[in-house]
Amino acid sequence: MSKQRAKLVVGNWKMHGRLAENATLLQAVAHGAGELPADVRVGVCVPSPYLAQSQSLLEGSRVVWGVQDVSAFTHGAYTGEVAAPMVVDFGATLAIVGHSERRAYHRESAELVAVKTQRALEAGLTPIVCVGETLEEREAGLTEQVVGTQLDEVLAKLSVQEAARLVVAYEPVWAIGTGKSASSEQAQAVHAFLRARLAAKGAAVADVPLLYGGSVKPENAEELFRQPDIDGGLIGGASLKDQDFLAICKAAAATSVAG
Ligand code: PGA
Repeated sequence: MSKQRAKLVVGNWKMHGRLAENATLLQAVAHGAGELPADVRVGVCVPSPYLAQSQSLLEGSRVVWGVQDVSAFTHGAYTGEVAAPMVVDFGATLAIVGHSERRAYHRESAELVAVKTQRALEAGLTPIVCVGETLEEREAGLTEQVVGTQLDEVLAKLSVQEAARLVVAYEPVWAIGTGKSASSEQAQAVHAFLRARLAAKGAAVADVPLLYGGSVKPENAEELFRQPDIDGGLIGGASLKDQDFLAICKAAAATSVAG
């Protein structure tokens, strides 16, 4: 059954940004977000060195901020790692976990992604758990099996109460940074599948925000966000341009209850 949920649009800056250009972008996003209806939430996940800058420029605005990964450990001799409680020190509330770039380039296993999700939750962060299939997997008819297993690995480690605090992002690997988004029908079909999987964990989990990511642009955002099980987007490239990111947020507003 389709149901109206609040919309959430989160920028994933990846390894982009410098202090001066970030200031312009963050200020523009904070300003633009202030004009959105109350049921559209906006966030940015920045490189960790820019957490302090995000805090100082976004505090008091409608925009929340966070990171793109957290360590599976809380502290200790793990050179180069950033722990979830450190992120919380800078007022952050979001942490992307299990992005396909981390699964592929940093060999993050489904088990590791699940542990990172637990660390984020323990610290009080909202984990944005990413799942998605490669082109080969889609063409082999394995999409549901792949994303279902990725989600199940995380859900298996969580209580119903913990799982209800997740955000899940469906990001087909073949659509990320390629300019080739999934069609709204393709995305909705996978979202409906994920929604059923979440609901099977418990009634409280059925309504966790389900974001679509992969070449979301101002031109295709509204059509995607109109789908009954797409609650917003995780935005890479387009989140680096204030006008594009805000246009995507406005597309979310156009499909929100209050919009
Ligand atoms: P993209 O990236 O919007 O640039 O395709 C999305 C993501 O990887 O989160």
